[in-house]
Amino acid sequence: MSATRAGLTGRLAIDGGEPVRASMLPYAHQQIDDADVDAVAAALRSDWLTTGPRVPAFEEALCSVTGARHAVAYSSGTAALHGATLAAGLGPGDEAITTPMTFAATANAVLYVGAEVRFADIDPGSLLIDPELVAGQVTPRTKAILPVDYSGQPADYDAIRAIADAAPGGRALVIADAAHSLGATWHGRPVGTLADMTVLSLHPAKIVTTGEGGAVLTDDDELAARLRRFRNHGISSELRARTDWTYQMVDLGFNYRLTDLGAALGSSQLDRLEGFLATRRRLARRYLDRLAGNDAVELPALDPDADSAWHFMFVQLNLDRLTVDRGGAYHALRAEGIGVNVHYIPVHEHPYYRGRYPGLSLPVAERAYRRLLTLPLHAGMTEADVDDVVAALDKVTTAYRA
Ligand SMILES: Cc1ncc(COP(=O)(O)O)c(C=O)c1O
Repeated sequence: MSATRAGLTGRLAIDGGEPVRASMLPYAHQQIDDADVDAVAAALRSDWLTTGPRVPAFEEALCSVTGARHAVAYSSGTAALHGATLAAGLGPGDEAITTPMTFAATANAVLYVGAEVRFADIDPGSLLIDPELVAGQVTPRTKAILPVDYSGQPADYDAIRAIADAAPGGRALVIADAAHSLGATWHGRPVGTLADMTVLSLHPAKIVTTGEGGAVLTDDDELAARLRRFRNHGISSELRARTDWTYQMVDLGFNYRLTDLGAALGSSQLDRLEGFLATRRRLARRYLDRLAGNDAVELPALDPDADSAWHFMFVQLNLDRLTVDRGGAYHALRAEGIGVNVHYIPVHEHPYYRGRYPGLSLPVAERAYRRLLTLPLHAGMTEADVDDVVAALDKVTTAYRA
């Protein structure tokens, strides 16, 4: 349902006026077509619901779209992050540096293996981890750096690589959290080739989905072998490769396997990756053009040498031009039928992390969080949907103009 004329101006829906949209536009939504349904149905009718041939086929498809040598599918992005920190050899006494502007899973994966997190604050415009602040967090214990490609834009991998290579305790590994950035490029290089390991999430909100799912991409044969073991109880052989009943458990691993149902869906989705990305980029460009005239919102800072996958669009409110705070704007926009969201509550502000790292202050992330809104962006949206969001933002920021 698109905007009605009366809803575009006048009384805010939160005050009883007519909303811009009659039904809620979600911030994210999966795109499932008949080919996806047929692919999953074929997997269901096959002999293999899990540990079957569709998983390596999906992994090969991931390699061919990203250029990575190896892809290891996991049951979720979180499991894939855990696999990556295990494969990196992180453990008690080690430290890993990451950003506070992420979903807690990124930092949690460091804690799962007994290592400690050090947070480096972010750039105020892109909200990507700031390499200079990463350098300030390096200690002789630093074993890994986990940048996050926030909103789909890759972090500064050359700067981070240089810091990791110069770590005083020996070369640290770069583990990219690319949950948002499948299909993005940075200085002409695709996500999946920018770090030692690159972690994808294949949750329905992401660029492509397997239901729940994730993957780790790497060019390193030894890391790939470890990643395969850790998702399969630490067993050194895959079920279909065995010639008799014997197998060896050589590491303490987990059951983090992706099913063949998920892999079938993922392969079918990857066939449409280029189209998904093209739509997201076209809609993002329209947002940037249309919002440029609204001085109550600050647009994302973009690296001209990056081509974002645009997992979501974010804006930061210029609160000194408004009489509401972010929470007020959020509720007013939701009342207008715009499914805005907030990514993210900075990780160190969650009670668990507050308890673990008391008094930690990361002022750039904290200020950004107070001003942040995620705007709807997914491959099922149209230009008219973007125009509704822009109209609702104009309506709300006009009504609350300071
Ligand atoms: C940046 C980031 N890292 C990790 C994850 C975890 O992925 P999953 O939900 O697939 O476990 C997410 C998903 O929300 C994410 O956005």
